[in-house]
Parts: sequence; structure tokens; C-alpha cells
Amino acid sequence: MAILVTGGAGFIGTNFILDWTATEAEPVVNLDLLTYAGHPGNFERLAHPERHLLVRGDLGDRELAADLLARHRVRAVLNFAAESHVDRSILGPAEFIRTNIVGVFNLLEAVREYWAGLPDAPRAAFRFLQVSTDEVFGALTPEAPAFTETTPYAPNSPYSASKAAADHLVRAYRHTYDLPTLTTNCSNNYGPFQFPEKLVPLLIVNALEGRPLPVYGDGLQRRDWLHVSDHVAALRLVLAAGRPGETYNIGGGQEKANLEVVEGLCDLLDRRRPRPDGRSYRSQVTHVADRPGHDRRYAVNADKIQAELGWRPKHDFQSGLAATVEWYLAETGWLENVRSGGYRDWISKQYGVAYD
Ligand code: NAD
Ligand code: DAU
Repeated sequence: MAILVTGGAGFIGTNFILDWTATEAEPVVNLDLLTYAGHPGNFERLAHPERHLLVRGDLGDRELAADLLARHRVRAVLNFAAESHVDRSILGPAEFIRTNIVGVFNLLEAVREYWAGLPDAPRAAFRFLQVSTDEVFGALTPEAPAFTETTPYAPNSPYSASKAAADHLVRAYRHTYDLPTLTTNCSNNYGPFQFPEKLVPLLIVNALEGRPLPVYGDGLQRRDWLHVSDHVAALRLVLAAGRPGETYNIGGGQEKANLEVVEGLCDLLDRRRPRPDGRSYRSQVTHVADRPGHDRRYAVNADKIQAELGWRPKHDFQSGLAATVEWYLAETGWLENVRSGGYRDWISKQYGVAYD
């Protein structure tokens, strides 16, 4: 028996697999296309490499998925695989439709067929966990209460629309076929192994290299930040004890304006790695054009997972961010490896600057 993780070579999947293989003897099969966001080197330091099998492939390759499910007698699937960056979805939505919608549909079909053929006991115990996002709920006004599991979906970007479509498919497979599905809707993650296109690692890298720290628009957009290890802990609880057919919101309750995040990072770096000229990293902050359709505010009400499954985040934002800064300061080799030529092209296109 094994679990199948898709997209496990990305940020959250890597953190999940490191945690799983450190604590469980049950192997994890990792189906990942290894796009620009997937990094097989993340697993070089696994304490138990025999517990992890990386298979390069597309989550939408039905034959491959069917083969892996049967060959490894998979008892649960966690679907992390996605195109995940909002800005990329604005510049080029096609890949988001292909992976996040059509890919998930094909994966669900492979899973449905496999699951339907299982004997009674493993069929009842089987789980399909869809790792989704709070962005499917759209944007909150300043005074609105945080998203709950019953907040209507109102996605605003091609990314969030594609994730919403996938979540609806998952819901329909539960409703129509009785597939034992679970869906989680999580807020913004930060922590080790996050690709430096997302706000926190992009700021750390740019700060240390003396580049501008790009703040979209007025920087007063608000996000609910959660350390990735708390997300991983929540996913493990939902997988183990979540009720099939249910959705669970996951969030840190640490709502911050983007400018607070930027300034907090600058202050941390000022202490840990002062600039040679003695000025603050805040001097590198640059307001740039806003993201089209930028959601002003997300906030997650995580009462359900707290009440039903006893989940609580362990990290507060300040200590989690400090630990994250330490990780990036130490992992210069990782940063060098993941910033391929493609990365440089992306930064040039998105921010309109040459990247040497
Ligand atoms: P990521 O971009 O870091 O990693 C995505 C992974 O999926 C990569 O390893 C990539 O190679 C793989 N992948 C992409 N297309 C694929 C395909 N067609 N077939 C197989 N593999 C493919 O993303 P992440 O930040 O780790 O997010 C993981 C999941 O969690 C996503 O579904 C995302 O929507 C969701 N999520 C992310 C956050 C966040 O803050 N990062 C918050 C909530 C939910
Ligand atoms: O809310 C969960 C979502 O969080 C996940 O579903 C997504 O996969 C993940 O990428 C993240 O989406 P965001 O768009 O919120 O994350 P990002 O790091 O791209 O941006 C965070 C905020 O910072 C957002 O308001 C945009 C802003 N921003 C981002 C970048 C990259 C800037 O101001 N400047 C930047 O250069």
C-alpha cells in the first residue's frame, strides 16, 4: 500500500513529503511533471529515500495514473499538482486550464475507475484529497467576515477560476459517484522550498541582491499567512480523520497588509544581514503597477478544522518569517539551482527589467 501525491516536487508537496517520509513507513509515490516549479533535488537529503518514488509525468496522463494506482495499491491520493502563480495565469492562462482543470478531470477519471474496482474494505477506506486555495472565494471587503466553508465561490483570476473548476469537479465526483473526496481551501503559505516568484522568497532574493522590492499598487492588499508546516499538519489530519465529501478551510488567522510583510522582511534582514552601506532594505521598496484584477483581501475562518480535527497552527507569523529568512540565507545553493534561465525570463517579462 502507498499514497500517491501529485505535484510533490513543488513547494507544499515537498514539505509534505519530507514530513511524511520522516514519520511514516508507508511509501509515497510522487507524480510530478517537473515544470519550472518542481525540483527533484529537494529530495536529495531524505532520511529514508526508499520511502519516496518520484515519477516524472502529467497528472492528466490517465494511463500512467491508472498504472501507478494499481501497481502501488494506492489507498489515498493527494492532489497538489497545479499551475499555482496568479501572475503567470494573467500573462498565459492556457496552461492553467490544461493542468488545473483538464488534468484534474483525467486524474479523477483514473481514480474513479481504480476505486470502483477495489474490494469493499479498501474502497470504503480510500480517500482523494484535493489541495485547494482560499482564492476560489474571491475578494473580501475590509469589514467582511472571513471565508467559511459555505462562502460562495467567486474566483477572480484565471488561476483561481481554474482551481474553482477543479473543486467543482471533485464535488461532483462525490455527489454523483460517491468517490470519498476531501477538499481543503488554504490561505497563503510561506516557508522553505517556495519558488522565488512568490512574494516572500522573491523579496528575500531581491533584497540580498540589491534589486528593487516590487510592491503592487498601494501595497494595502491583505493576505492570511500560514507557515507551510502548519498546512502540512492540517492536510495530514484531514487525510486521516476528515469526513468524506466535506471541505475544510485552513488559515493562520495572521492577516497582514502586503506592506507589513515587506517591511517586516526588511527589518529581519537589516538585523541578520545588514546592507554594506548601513541603509535599511526598506530603501529598495518600489511601488510598481498593480496586478490586474488584484483581490484586495483574503481571510480564512478555520473554526471547522479546529473544532472537528483539533488543528491549530503552531507558528505565529513573526517567528515563522524569521525561520524562513534563516532557511533562505542558508540555502543559497538551492536558490541558485532553481533560478534557471526560465526564471530570469519570467522576472524580465513580469517586472519589465533586465535580469542579469
Ligand atoms: P508549486 O507551483 O510550488 O508546485 C506545483 C507542482 O506541481 C510542481 O512540482 C510542478 O512541477 C507540478 N505540476 C505542475 N503541472 C503539473 C502537471 N500537469 N502534472 C504533474 N505535476 C505538475 O505549487 P505549491 O505552492 O506547492 O501549491 C501546491 C498546491 O497547493 C496547488 O494546488 C495550489 O493551488 C495549492 N495552494 C497553494 C498555496 C500557496 O500559498 N502556495 C495556498 C493554498 C493552496
Ligand atoms: O491564497 C492562497 C494563494 O496564495 C495560493 O492559492 C497561490 O497558489 C499562491 O501563489 C498565493 O497567491 P497570491 O497571489 O496571494 O501570492 P503571491 O505571493 O503571488 O502574492 C502575495 C501578495 O503580494 C499579493 O497581494 C500580490 C502581492 N505581490 C506579489 C508579488 C509576486 C506584490 O506586491 N509584488 C510581487 O512582486
